[in-house]
Amino acid sequence: MPGIVIVGAQWGDEGKGKLVDLMAEKADGVIRYQGGNNAGHTIVHGDVTWKFHLIPSGILYSSKPCMIGNGVVIDPVVLTGELDGLKGRGVDLSGLKISANAHLIMPYHLMLDTAGEARLGKLQIGTTRRGIGPAYMDKAARLGIRVQDLLDEKILKKKIAAALAPKKAQLRDWEKDPALDLQSMTEEYLAYGNRIEQYITDTAKLVHEELKGGGTIIFEGAQGAMLDIDHGTYPFVTSSNPIAGAACVGAGVGPLAINEVWGVAKAYATRVGAGPFPTELDNEFGETLRKAGGEFGTTTGRPRRTGWLDLVQLKYAARINGFSHLAITKLDVLSGLGDLKLCTSYKTNTGAELDDFPYHQSVVHHLEPVYTTLPGWDEDLTKVREEKDLPDAAREYLAFIAHEVEVPVAMVGVGPARDQMITMSA
Ligand code: IMP
Repeated sequence: MPGIVIVGAQWGDEGKGKLVDLMAEKADGVIRYQGGNNAGHTIVHGDVTWKFHLIPSGILYSSKPCMIGNGVVIDPVVLTGELDGLKGRGVDLSGLKISANAHLIMPYHLMLDTAGEARLGKLQIGTTRRGIGPAYMDKAARLGIRVQDLLDEKILKKKIAAALAPKKAQLRDWEKDPALDLQSMTEEYLAYGNRIEQYITDTAKLVHEELKGGGTIIFEGAQGAMLDIDHGTYPFVTSSNPIAGAACVGAGVGPLAINEVWGVAKAYATRVGAGPFPTELDNEFGETLRKAGGEFGTTTGRPRRTGWLDLVQLKYAARINGFSHLAITKLDVLSGLGDLKLCTSYKTNTGAELDDFPYHQSVVHHLEPVYTTLPGWDEDLTKVREEKDLPDAAREYLAFIAHEVEVPVAMVGVGPARDQMITMSA
């Protein structure tokens, strides 16, 4: 039966795609449950590199259901672009299923995202400008356009008309003449509807049937715990809930359908966009880490901020997600960097020491990390495939993480290829 949730344990970009890719091969289906094309996965299969923003990487496993759940926001321009790319490379798309209830990112959402950031000026969030926030805003305002609306011209036009009027007013100061024409937008989106109609279905029912029949479903999260709109570093967050509990809402299953929750964390930490990052290394060493780890965004190409692994943050992520397993990625990047620091508590600006992530934003902004230093290693890990072949120092590093977070480290990544994963003993 198992329902397995795979979530980011930090600020996104932890390498979840690779774990989903590995697990999807043995599972009976994959469903994404939130976010949109603000996410980006790079999957390396042999000599071929795949980049996905919207479609779950499970699509590479032919006819198994590969689903985009109701909680996802879909930009049809991006979706159809990804479909074209996959078709061009001969991938069988018969397993693709798109929830009829998922909301659409419309052209005005992209404009509003950019205008919103411009309005914030120095206080901007650093969004991916993919229209994610404005699309979720419309969903909550009950002005959203859903996938199913693409199948009915009259309804689509009526809904776009209702959404357009307030958007034009909102955009007046930012776009002199926003190209938001009701008729041409309706026609363009109807054409997208025609293209994706064959994939539209009730994905929640499909997931239910697979689980009921004893199948395994992977619930794929995007972004990470600290970007969660409720539990992350608000307002520097995304506009959905990446945490495991949201898998139920965004895919349409009850909590008892979830059997395992895998938290994926890098062996160090990164963040893109603005917002607090207690262990950030805004120095030469941070630059070394960025280069060693190739830390540039898959979606926007922005350099990622880098820092030491933050175990207080990871413990917090374990608590709000209920991790049953941890996967630590990019351990190979730490080779040859000398002694390694792990943040085990914080000092506040009033001198207090905290071993839990504080709820108050002003406190979070002034945290000073307190580190434990462990010996590093120089060996190249990229060819290691078994736990016993890891250097002692690397094993100690992993054991320290598992001990502090109180969650076993079950998998370890040592490179981008799918076989560069080590399964750890219990
Ligand atoms: P949005 O999701 O585009 O609204 O961006 C909100 C914040 O989340 C920004 O700081 C983004 O950089 C960050 N963000 C969104 N998606 C991802 C992701 O997939 N990885 C890392 N950061 C992300």
